[in-house]
Amino acid sequence: MAPSARRPLVSGNWKMHHDHIEALHTIRDLGLRCKPEDVAHVDVSVHPPFTDLRTAQTLIEAERIPVALGAQHCNDHDRGAYTGEVSPQMLARLGVRYVLVGHSERRQLFAMSDEAVAATLRAVLRHEMTPICCVGETAEERAAGHTDARLAAQLTAALDGLDAVQISSLVIAYEPIWAIGTGNAATAVDAEDACLFVRQTIGELAGAEAAASVRVQYGGSVTAENAGSFLAEPDVDGLLVGGASLDAGSFLDIVRASRPVQRTRG
Ligand code: 13P
Repeated sequence: MAPSARRPLVSGNWKMHHDHIEALHTIRDLGLRCKPEDVAHVDVSVHPPFTDLRTAQTLIEAERIPVALGAQHCNDHDRGAYTGEVSPQMLARLGVRYVLVGHSERRQLFAMSDEAVAATLRAVLRHEMTPICCVGETAEERAAGHTDARLAAQLTAALDGLDAVQISSLVIAYEPIWAIGTGNAATAVDAEDACLFVRQTIGELAGAEAAASVRVQYGGSVTAENAGSFLAEPDVDGLLVGGASLDAGSFLDIVRASRPVQRTRG
């Protein structure tokens, strides 16, 4: 199979780790270690907590560090009486380029509904940022053979009503919930099967061109050791990394695993 034309995206989701001082050190470390060839064929984003964003933005811009700024969540309104929330407009003003939408931790721990995921996705698009829409099944759903049905339902709820151009611009992250933070990553073949299913579902919702353009990431216990195996799969266009993204060295090792020579399966 020929190498994919889609440029991989490797994203680091810091979750609720690293205060703004630690963020400063980590991003500076990334900037010092990262060589132009490391990012020649891959886009990279980091998603720190909200309180770090301004520090991260200033440093990335001042030092021209080749990573895009990302956020982990936002509200779907631009402003208003939503105590504790952060709006997409605020993120856009800080130079945020990618926003995680509907991460399983938001869905499970903070009761984020399919409707809220869909509204947030539209709000992020409205502010010309790229949503990384997260989908994935629980261990029980997987054991019952419901993985595809779950993914199709989540994608349909999130994307229904968007036009093909909007859908083409999205990133979808396939993150099986049982693989997150467990050390029990999916196999590369399982990740490929699920990412291919996501792409086929996009094809049904928005047509073949959108399916060919949309980037599909795998996430769940990604490490520097297993990253290359996922990225070698034809339908895995990048990685969403949690724990292993907190350290600049291990995150860069994962970024380096996306060299194009490794993207074709032998
Ligand atoms: P881990 O890489 O720590 O398993 O986290 C995955 C994840 O949830 C990224 O969004």
